[in-house]
Amino acid sequence: MTICFNPQNKLRFENTLAKYEIKASALLPTLWLAQEQFEFLTPEVMDYVAQLLEMPPAHVYEAVTFYIMYKKRDMGKFCLQVCNNITCSMMGSEDLIRLIKKELHIGLNEVTEDKMFSLVPVQCLGSCDTAPVVQVNDDYCENLNPEKLRELIIKLRAGIVLEGPGIPCQ
Ligand code: FES
Repeated sequence: MTICFNPQNKLRFENTLAKYEIKASALLPTLWLAQEQFEFLTPEVMDYVAQLLEMPPAHVYEAVTFYIMYKKRDMGKFCLQVCNNITCSMMGSEDLIRLIKKELHIGLNEVTEDKMFSLVPVQCLGSCDTAPVVQVNDDYCENLNPEKLRELIIKLRAGIVLEGPGIPCQ
């Protein structure tokens, strides 16, 4: 399969590029765009980005490896990123991790067999005042407890779309 931005994303890429004096400076937003279209960043996708930005592929690999928000493999439809830093931990994030493991039969950094969910422990999501926090793809679900999280998983399975940061969990 040829890796290539679709026409809409080509336009978005051109608009992004126009904001920077140096092509390489557009690396992070271009990777984000690539992840949006291709779901995760395979070596082929990273090579494509390197080619677009006229930079060595190794520089792209380094950035993708460094930043946790870039997916290197298929993490399923809903990536549940559970903050287990100090505040969330004190507010019960370990219980959330235990619940996900039990309900979905997966361990840390694993994906369910049906490719619906994955579980990823992360460091502080910057929302300590609403701990414990789970980031579901791009949305924050805040002030969680195991019961709310169980309900959230049921909603996600049923295809109920998150309508905004934290909305299903408040
Ligand atoms: S410790 Fe979890 S959001 Fe800061």
